[in-house]
Amino acid sequence: MCGIVGAVAERNITAILLEGLKRLEYRGYDSAGVAVFTNDEKLERMRRPGKVSELERALDAEPLLGRLGIAHTRWATHGAPCERNAHPHFSGDLAVVHNGIIENYEALREQLKALGYVFTSDTDTEVIAHLLSHKLKDLADLTVALKATVKELHGAYGLAVISAKQPDRLVAARSGSPLVIGLGLGENFLASDQLALRQVTDRFMYLEEGDIAEIRRDSVQIWDLNGKDVEREVVQYRDGAEAADKGEFRHYMLKEIHEQPAVVQRTLEGRLSQNQVLVQAFGPQAAELFAKVRNVQIVACGTSYHAGMVARYWLEELAGIPCQVEVASEFRYRKVVVQPDSLFVTISQSGETADTLAALRNAKELGFLASLAICNVGISSLVRESDLTLLTQAGREIGVASTKAFTTQLVGLLLLTLSLGQVRGTLGEGVEAKLVEELRRLPARLGEALAMDNTVEKIAELFAEKNHTLFLGRGAQFPVAMEGALKLKEISYIHAEAYPAGELKHGPLALVDNDMPVVTVAPNNELLEKLKSNLQEVRARGGQLIVFADEKAGMTNGEGTHVVHMPHIHDILSPILYTIPLQLLSYYVAVLKGTDVDQPRNLAKSVTVE
Ligand code: F6R
Repeated sequence: MCGIVGAVAERNITAILLEGLKRLEYRGYDSAGVAVFTNDEKLERMRRPGKVSELERALDAEPLLGRLGIAHTRWATHGAPCERNAHPHFSGDLAVVHNGIIENYEALREQLKALGYVFTSDTDTEVIAHLLSHKLKDLADLTVALKATVKELHGAYGLAVISAKQPDRLVAARSGSPLVIGLGLGENFLASDQLALRQVTDRFMYLEEGDIAEIRRDSVQIWDLNGKDVEREVVQYRDGAEAADKGEFRHYMLKEIHEQPAVVQRTLEGRLSQNQVLVQAFGPQAAELFAKVRNVQIVACGTSYHAGMVARYWLEELAGIPCQVEVASEFRYRKVVVQPDSLFVTISQSGETADTLAALRNAKELGFLASLAICNVGISSLVRESDLTLLTQAGREIGVASTKAFTTQLVGLLLLTLSLGQVRGTLGEGVEAKLVEELRRLPARLGEALAMDNTVEKIAELFAEKNHTLFLGRGAQFPVAMEGALKLKEISYIHAEAYPAGELKHGPLALVDNDMPVVTVAPNNELLEKLKSNLQEVRARGGQLIVFADEKAGMTNGEGTHVVHMPHIHDILSPILYTIPLQLLSYYVAVLKGTDVDQPRNLAKSVTVE
């Protein structure tokens, strides 16, 4: 998604802005641009469609040197990804970069056109530039004019503005799209994510919803939603930059897949006693709140939603708690009937997904007992706005396709299931102790599954020439199949659909032929025999089967059937284990197809717009 970087300093800032943009590249974008108040006191910009490296090349050829500037990576929402639509947008003496969507831009555009403003792009952002320019006619001060401008904007924005008339400052506004100020010595910075600024500072101030900031070289002033002068806490990071290189791996995605034993281990650390889950891992009031929970409502998007779907099987089977799961973009616009004593659970890698955040905000008005965020980013909006939190410890995930975030979310959700069952006394005899023991063994099991890397790489060859695929699973493996299909379509662009295996004969079987590989996960559980019958239905129609099956499932290779044996695992934990070969499969298919694995087309890492 879009990224913002800004700087006001005593030294040339163009290289800092470019480095910041590169650090945001992993989020997905389709054009990039920079505006600098140059040393010869002119506001100038350079914009390029495509990668930041294109912009860098253009700047090498025609350098822009200055001590004040803003930069942006754009992920197109309004208007095609081309130079004309790339940010920064200019109006008179000022330049604007914007993350988010302005919903009333059409009405504003008409008003501004009537006032004589000429639009050179198809974006919603350009209305902000012209509106601000217009306000500046009466309100000579940039900060005052920005405060007046945002009052007329409906929608979501993270904004950074510079003006040739007041080149001593960078002004910013946040509503629905995160912004952070990086504090330096005699220089200050702004970005949509602190990662963009880690090369210049380790001290940060996070803007809150409705904040407006005026950032100068040696001072920062912030006003809140009500216009009150406020201080925001300074957060210092001492952990050094997290390893952002690919190490021995060809892609971040492969590196992140292989990190799973370690990050699952980290997610469990400090959260288990000898034979129980430590409920206080969810926060000091967790035990008291969990005792009252009679229902769980889970809301999330994409891969995180699939994690929620697995959790539903666990919560109902193990803890006996009714659970509903819904994608956030539907939940937030539906008239929801809230069951009494319902816990509202959000799941998110980034903690900034616009729909999930909006659903949480709606939920607060709907009478839920409490909210809990299972999230990978401790400083995210979702975490700050939830009553309870469990942080997954996946570390930074750079590949756009989520992998280690998913498996650590599943671990977090299993801890939640056991905690709710423990506090409410609904777990069967010995269940918690057994699962705690199994959880401790999980990292080693994941390591064994990863050792099948080469086998899966060979299987991937079966897919390189295919255009469609079916993924099948039963029970808690159905969401695993959904996640497998999502991974494949995201990074290899092969059409993939997931079905509960029992649904096959109700329609999708019509699609099955020799050109439609069917991927199945088959742990050794009570649904195995039923699954085997479903697979016979596929074989009878000439379908090619790829089955990831428990070593004890009694499934063997045969004509049109490729069986990959998986290490045996407790059935409850099998969704976590069986995710691994599906991630590897999509990875190797994408490599064979030569796609951009870490930054697949049209996608963004953190979806901060609706
Ligand atoms: C898929 C993927 C997305 C995200 C979704 C939610 O690989 O990464 O489907 O899972 O955009 O993002 P978070 O978890 O950050 O809320």
